[in-house]
Amino acid sequence: MQNTNRGSFGGRLGIILASAGSAVGLGNIWRFPTEVGRNGGAAFILVYLCFVFFLAMPVMVSEFIIGRASKANTVDSYRRLAPGKPWVIVGFLGVLGGILVLSFYSVVAGWTLHYTISSLAYQLTGDQDYGAFFSNFVSNPWQPLIYVAVFLLLTHFIVARGVQAGIERYSKVMMPALLVIILVLMSCSLSMPGSREGLQFLLHPDFSKVTASVVLSAMGQAFFSLSVGIGCLATYASYFQRDVPLVSSAFSVCFIDTMVAILSGFIIFPAVFSVPGVEVDAGPGLVYITLPNVFNMAFSDVPVIGYLFSSLFYILLFLAALTSSISMHEIDTAFIHEKFHLSRPRAAAIVTAVCLVLGAACSLSFGPWEKIQVCDLRIFDLFDYLTAKFIMPLCSIFISLFVGWILERKVVQNELTNDGTLRLRTARFLILLIRWVAPVGVCIIFLNELFS
Ligand code: ALA
Repeated sequence: MQNTNRGSFGGRLGIILASAGSAVGLGNIWRFPTEVGRNGGAAFILVYLCFVFFLAMPVMVSEFIIGRASKANTVDSYRRLAPGKPWVIVGFLGVLGGILVLSFYSVVAGWTLHYTISSLAYQLTGDQDYGAFFSNFVSNPWQPLIYVAVFLLLTHFIVARGVQAGIERYSKVMMPALLVIILVLMSCSLSMPGSREGLQFLLHPDFSKVTASVVLSAMGQAFFSLSVGIGCLATYASYFQRDVPLVSSAFSVCFIDTMVAILSGFIIFPAVFSVPGVEVDAGPGLVYITLPNVFNMAFSDVPVIGYLFSSLFYILLFLAALTSSISMHEIDTAFIHEKFHLSRPRAAAIVTAVCLVLGAACSLSFGPWEKIQVCDLRIFDLFDYLTAKFIMPLCSIFISLFVGWILERKVVQNELTNDGTLRLRTARFLILLIRWVAPVGVCIIFLNELFS
């Protein structure tokens, strides 16, 4: 039985902004420049673009098909479309993936909130040891926990309000704000003295840098960045109206997500190259250690610009984290709300409470719980590994196999063409990508990663 009282998105703009909000997150502004810096710049970006459009986008379209055809949460969607078959396990893995990503994600989002407040309070100015500032904060047993809790409560507040009054409404405000901040920061960054070198690094590929590990990193980044494989997008698509064109919506989401990632590179690298002696391959510390240094040194003559630049940058990062976290929260809230017939706020409260406990464990793994390790990974890294390297690619393989081979061809055609009202010239090519290219490509890379 289909649940006819489910929420739905109001319009196409809301759908694109909410789905792009799910995709655009810390992955674009924190993880992407880090990966680009570590993996040789433009060559990495080209490999990344291939993965986005040939592997991740077909999986995204598949998730849209599953979500809209079933009009159900990620677990029940498989129950409805393939009753009595074990495909429902993919839905449960998505529910687990959503909880795990949200838990470790809230920790980094909490750091971002702390940096936003510190920057606004003039604490990120002047000549100081920003490495010590960062490590003292993340290893403190209490302070980061408070930020994790505040971030999760904000996420909870939006999700509990519902699809249209919460997710869509806030995405419509936060996404344009995010795009405006990006444009302001980018124009400021491009006027800095190192912008030419920064652009060179981003735009001139050196293919000698493309190794197997660069390819793997690019794929992991594409899946993480587009939020595919854990059912966020299927859950959102279950709220789409029947006249929403799935393929062009997926293309728009991939395009916005990729633009934001590349524009973030345009913000960060010209700034980093403007300061002599600063390394571009500083890893995850790039945004929390290197950049505060850069903001200070680059604007030492006019500190107020450094102050504004740094405050706007961390606000941007925070908004991006929030638009993504609501989509991960929604996977599990929708499941609990529909499965156990609880009210939406109650279902959301359960998800928030579970993530609070797991997020606290991830946060403490940078301080007092650092020694607790599984397979040499601390709890935070274990959650990151399990989701980005295991659950997301594994579920992506099954999602594309499900749509390509199991789901009735007529259902797929109806979803792709909105019941025959759209002509889709690329349908054959897309089905080829969904049936063969995505599952085989992801499988090869996944097995390689698993056994290496
Ligand atoms: N897609 C989200 C991000 O990139 C998870 O941060």
